Amino acid sequence: MEIIIAGLSSSCRSQITIRTELSKAESEMSNVIIGVADNGPGIPEAVQSKLFDPFFTTKPVVTGTGIALAISYQIVVEKHGGQMKCVSTLGKGTEFIVEIPLKTG
Ligand SMILES: Nc1ncnc2c1ncn2[C@@H]1O[C@H](COP(=O)(O)OP(=O)(O)OP(=O)(O)O)[C@@H](O)[C@H]1O
Ligand SMILES: [Mg+2]
Repeated sequence: MEIIIAGLSSSCRSQITIRTELSKAESEMSNVIIGVADNGPGIPEAVQSKLFDPFFTTKPVVTGTGIALAISYQIVVEKHGGQMKCVSTLGKGTEFIVEIPLKTG
């Protein structure tokens, strides 16, 4: 399934695409994959390596806390035994991909 959310004004070409998919992991257990992609500026490699660090932000103090991705990562990986990664190309955009096993244990 794919949902596209586009900027409303004609001068605004901002777009977010949300996709979902079921995959078979090595162990025959199904994983659900959720991708959230944007067509923003992309993320430099030096920043990509710190994305999931608690309190890492490139936003001005007060504007960003830098905890959103760290908390998301913790929930996905530690609570659900899943994986979270970022695929980004400068000038093209970014996709965050969350993969969570449907059943554990
Ligand atoms: N889709 C994106 N495109 C470009 N950079 C991003 C994107 N998502 C996250 N980032 C970068 O990762 C940093 C950390 O993101 P995160 O959401 O954890 O914190 P934040 O947005 O700075 O603050 P907050 O915790 O309030 O959301 C951001 O400051 C930004 O530099
Ligand atoms: Mg954020």
